[in-house]
Amino acid sequence: MAPKSSRLNSLIAKSPLAIPATRRATLTQCANALRNLLLLLFLLRYTRKTYLHLRGYGLLGSITRLRRQIWKQLYTYFLRLPFVQSKIRADVDKAVLDLQTKLVPSGPGVVNYTSLPPKGWSGEDVRKELERLGDMKHTRWEDGRVSGAVYHGGNELAELQAEAFKRFGVANPIHPDVFPGVRKMEAEVVAMVLSLFHAPEGGAGVSTSGGTESILSAVLGARQKAYAERGVREPEIILPETAHTAFRKAGEYFNIRVHLVPCPAPSYRVSLPHVKRLLNSNTILLVGSAPNFPHGIVDDIPALSALALKHRLPLHVDCCLGSFMIAFLAKSGFETPDFNFRVPGVTSISVDTHKYGFAPKGNSVVLYRSAALRAWQYYICPDWSGGVYASPGIAGSRPGALIAGCWATIMSLGEEGYISHCVQIVGAAKQLEDAIRTSPSLKHSLRVIGKPLVSVVAFRSPINAPVDEHLVDLYAVADGMSHRGWHLNALQDPPGIHVAVTLPVANAVGELISDLEAVVGECRGKTDGTKGDAAALYGVAGALPDKSVVRELAGGFLDTLYKT
Ligand SMILES: *Cc1c(COP(=O)(O)O)cnc(C)c1O
Ligand SMILES: *[C@@H]1O[C@H](CO)[C@@H](O)[C@H](O)[C@H]1NC(C)=O
Repeated sequence: MAPKSSRLNSLIAKSPLAIPATRRATLTQCANALRNLLLLLFLLRYTRKTYLHLRGYGLLGSITRLRRQIWKQLYTYFLRLPFVQSKIRADVDKAVLDLQTKLVPSGPGVVNYTSLPPKGWSGEDVRKELERLGDMKHTRWEDGRVSGAVYHGGNELAELQAEAFKRFGVANPIHPDVFPGVRKMEAEVVAMVLSLFHAPEGGAGVSTSGGTESILSAVLGARQKAYAERGVREPEIILPETAHTAFRKAGEYFNIRVHLVPCPAPSYRVSLPHVKRLLNSNTILLVGSAPNFPHGIVDDIPALSALALKHRLPLHVDCCLGSFMIAFLAKSGFETPDFNFRVPGVTSISVDTHKYGFAPKGNSVVLYRSAALRAWQYYICPDWSGGVYASPGIAGSRPGALIAGCWATIMSLGEEGYISHCVQIVGAAKQLEDAIRTSPSLKHSLRVIGKPLVSVVAFRSPINAPVDEHLVDLYAVADGMSHRGWHLNALQDPPGIHVAVTLPVANAVGELISDLEAVVGECRGKTDGTKGDAAALYGVAGALPDKSVVRELAGGFLDTLYKT
C-alpha cells in the first residue's frame, strides 16, 4: 500500500490543483484534530452511557444484569445445539397441539366454514348458528367463575347497549357531519370521565378502542413532546415492573427504551429511589398504576408527582383497571388513595370505560391535564392526495356503535349505579382478602400481596417461610381451581394468583372462598405430581434464563387463535 499511496501523493502534489505543502500540513492537522474530537465524543458518549447505567442500576445491579446477560447468551447457544433444537421443537409442537385440541373444536358434528357460502343464509339460519356459537362449552363467566375479563353490568344494561348498537350500527365518528349525535356522545363521555377524575379547567381527552390504545397514545404523545421541545432522540421511560405490558409494547412500537423498576415487598409499590436513579436527560415519561394488574396495588402517585414536577416530566397514571371503581371508592365509603388530577404532577390518565365503566368492550379514554398535552397524540397529514387528513389517535374509522353503547351505559348507571356496584365489588374483594388473612385453612399457606385498595386481590406463598406442611405450590392451586371450573390469573416473579372481582365474581365470592380452601387443602404437602397447565408453563418457563421457548409457545398459541 505504502509505495502506491506515496506515488499517489506525489502525483497529487504535482498536479495543477495541488495544495501548497504548508496548507496541506494545516489540513492534515485539522483532519487529525477532527478525528480526535470524534473519538473523544464517541468515548464521552459511551462513558456517559456507562455512567448512567451504573447510576441507574448500581454497581451490584449492573454486575447482576451483566451476569444474567452472559448466562442468557450461553443458554441461547445451548438452545441452538441441533439435538436440543429438535427436542424443543418436539415439545413445543406437542404443547401447541394440546392447546389446539382444547381451543379448536373438532370431531363429528363440527362444521367449519372456510369459504363463503355460495348462497347467503336465511336470517333464521344465521341466528340459529349464532345461538350455537354463544352456547359453546366455556368457562362460566356467567356464574362468576372468571377473574376480570367480563365486566358485566347486568342483563338489563346489556339489552340497552344492544339497542344503542342497533341505532348507531353504521355510525363512524370520523364523519362528524354525518353522525352529529355520535360526535356529541363521544365528547360527553370524555367530559364526564374528565370530571370524574377531577381534571382542572382546560382538561382534555380522547376516546380509544381500549386500555392498550390509551396507553400507546399517552406514551407516543410524551415522545413527540420530548422530541419537539427538548430534542430527545433516544427516549426512555421509567416503569414500575408491575405496570401493564402495554407500556412495554409502546416501547417496542415507538422505539423507546424501557427501564423497569422493582416494586418490592412489603408494599409492592414502585421503589422511588430506583426511579430517581434512572432519571436522565433522555427520560420522557414517568408512570404509576392505580392499581396495577398483577397485584392490584396502587403506586405512590403523590411521590411520583413530586418527582415529575421537580424534573419537569410528564406523569401518566394508569387507571385502566381501576377505572370507575377507584373513582368511586371515597363515595362508596372505602379508603381511597390519591391518584387523579388533584395530584398536581399528574399529566395524563388512562381509564377503561370497558372495564369498571361497564361499557361494551372496545371503549377506553385517555385524559390529559390540558388540550396542549392532548395535541401531541394527534395525527395530521396536510398534503395527502386523498385530502387533508386528521385523526385524534391511532385508529382511522371507529365504531360509533360502541361510543353510543358507552354513553348509554354511563347515563343509565349514573353515580348511584356506580356507587352501588363499587360497594358490591370492592366489598367482595375485601371479603376475599379477609378470608385469605384469617381463614384457618388459608392463612398459613397464602399471603395477600401488599394492601389491595380496589378490586384485585393477589396472593402468594409466605416469604421466607420454612418448608413445612402448610406450603403449597401456587400453580398447583391455580390448576386445582381450574379443575373446579374457575379461571383465575396465574402470576410470575413471584409465583402467585390474583382475582379481579367483577359483578359476577362478587355474586359467587362465597363459593370462590370455599373452593380455594378446599384446593389449598388438597395441595398442602404435595410438592410434586402430574403438573397442570399453569404449573407446566410457569414452573418451567420461570426457571429459563432465555425466554425464546416461551416466545415460541406463545406464538404457537396466537397461531391457534386463527385455526378453523
Ligand atoms: C386491562 C389493563 C390495561 C390494558 O387494557 P386493554 O383494554 O386490555 O388494552 C392497562 N392497564 C391495566 C392496569 C389493565 O388492567
Ligand atoms: C374442519 O373440521 C374438521 C372436523 O370436523 C377437521 O378435520 C378439519 O381439519 C377442520 N378444518 C378445515 C379447514 O376443514
